[in-house]
Amino acid sequence: MIVDMHCHVVYGVDDGAQKPGDMQDMLRLAHENRVKHIICTSHIAPGEAPFPAEKYEAHLAEGQAYCDSQSWDLHLHPGSEILYTRDAVRMLDEGRVPRLDGKWAVLVEFWHECPYSTMEEAARKLTDEGMTVVFAHIERYKALGSIRRIRDLKERWGILMQMNSHTVTRKLPFFTERWKQRVLRDGLVDIISSDAHNITSRSCTMLPAWEKLRDTLGEERADDLCGGCIARVLELT
Ligand SMILES: [Fe+2]
Repeated sequence: MIVDMHCHVVYGVDDGAQKPGDMQDMLRLAHENRVKHIICTSHIAPGEAPFPAEKYEAHLAEGQAYCDSQSWDLHLHPGSEILYTRDAVRMLDEGRVPRLDGKWAVLVEFWHECPYSTMEEAARKLTDEGMTVVFAHIERYKALGSIRRIRDLKERWGILMQMNSHTVTRKLPFFTERWKQRVLRDGLVDIISSDAHNITSRSCTMLPAWEKLRDTLGEERADDLCGGCIARVLELT
């Protein structure tokens, strides 16, 4: 079962889908990629920019109705990709930011140049609240170029590490490619998701990523990375 737990498919609320037709195109592509569940993780910057919660919920429901009208076995769940800000923990606690499928779990991103100390702070504060924490697209951060730090975050706070499916399918520059092969081989990545924003430049590539992982790491590991792990966390079936 493929689960895409990082996807900007809900239209009109962030830099992902802009119009109903964009959302429908993205849903069709997800269905073609054999995705069964999508966690609709629109961007939220708690305390820095208002989030149109009602619009988000209405458009998500529209998306689900569209899937149902096509008779696709594709299920949309609420969520968000929160930028780690000073207000993030408080607003999550107060229920003002959608958690992943309403469970006590959160997808967190950072500024690209974010220092490691801030990531440690986020890991500590969020897990202190009892949350399961997923760090979004770990390949983006200089601070996580160090394998030791990734291990440290996992060992101390049980942080789950998410990598984008495009990163799996693409050949990267030499040193980044070497880092990618190592974190995948050493089991430091837990979840592969599309982080799709559209059907062109940032599209859903879950199936090609699953195929590549199956060929390199084996089918069982590919299944776990592309759905199994997050399905266990969120109790999706
Ligand atoms: Fe994202």
